[in-house]
Amino acid sequence: MFKTLEWTQHGVVMIDQRKLPTEEVYPLFKTYQEVAQAIRDMVVRGAPAIGVAAAMGVALGAKQIQADSIQEFERKFAEICDVLASTRPTAVNLFWAIERMKGVCRQLLPKADLQTFKEALESEAVRMHEEDIALNRQLGRFGADLLGERVLTHCNAGALATAGYGTALGVIRAAVERGKKIQVFADETRPFLQGARLTAWELQKDNIPVTLITDNMAGYFMQQGKIDCVVVGADRIAANGDVANKIGTYSVAVLAKENSIPFYVAAPISTLDLGLPSGDQIPIEQRPSREVTHIQQSAIAPEGVRVANPAFDVTPNRYVAAIITERGVARAPYEQSLRDLSDRS
Ligand code: MRU
Repeated sequence: MFKTLEWTQHGVVMIDQRKLPTEEVYPLFKTYQEVAQAIRDMVVRGAPAIGVAAAMGVALGAKQIQADSIQEFERKFAEICDVLASTRPTAVNLFWAIERMKGVCRQLLPKADLQTFKEALESEAVRMHEEDIALNRQLGRFGADLLGERVLTHCNAGALATAGYGTALGVIRAAVERGKKIQVFADETRPFLQGARLTAWELQKDNIPVTLITDNMAGYFMQQGKIDCVVVGADRIAANGDVANKIGTYSVAVLAKENSIPFYVAAPISTLDLGLPSGDQIPIEQRPSREVTHIQQSAIAPEGVRVANPAFDVTPNRYVAAIITERGVARAPYEQSLRDLSDRS
């Protein structure tokens, strides 16, 4: 099995997701600046994986700091956190992870020497990596029973989008481990093709039957009675259960409701943003136009054409049959059920 990202004594090793499925390469990122660029360029992507990568970036940045006083260290540490926080705006796991690293700083700095502090940050980042895999497995166990046999997914919410195992694909993996016969329909997910390049690749590696379809085929297969349920991941979930996820998720959810197919969201508690009352306030990242006008090096649109490229959309809570987390399954009304899960430790 591949590793999405890994902490080493020399830096962070990450599979370069831009190169998949044709090349499986694992470059080393030696500085926090390199990690930040890798997040921006989508070498690593997917909300939980971005969070863990950012935590490792913070730990790496702390190791790079040379400071004569605690005050100087704190100032440089804050700068590092700001750089990493500015990489991608939508996935809340990024900010959650950086806050957690800042918490280590707040707890230790008054008493610890800088070396102890750097080691504590490293341990925290490694712990977050391990925890993410464990909670995905737990989330998978909660979700496995909900799945029907033929499951549609959008984007990649798999091992590649997390520290390992996956959220939406974690639920699918857990169902398969339970002996369920599962067939996955993977939307290709234009424009970045996370479905075609990543979901198809990782499911094939696991011998889980997968049929790749273009995004505009989803409605056809639902109408034909070929899909039993949908499961997707999330980048941010507001207090009322509105869900930001990869662009195109909203269309899938509307089609699912029209065809009476349950639409499930699988995400860790760290993806909840209960400070936001609804999805309207979720910042939507706008990505470069080249992602739409080109596939790899080839242009597929006339030069100079105006392009829009929002990377995410928001699915209103009324389309969501359930939100599967590592602490259990939330159902409407989400204000209450999400609050309950969040309060539970
Ligand atoms: O732009 P990406 O590839 O980072 O977007 C990823 C998604 O939208 C995923 O569905 C989401 O982050 C959940 S990943 C477990």
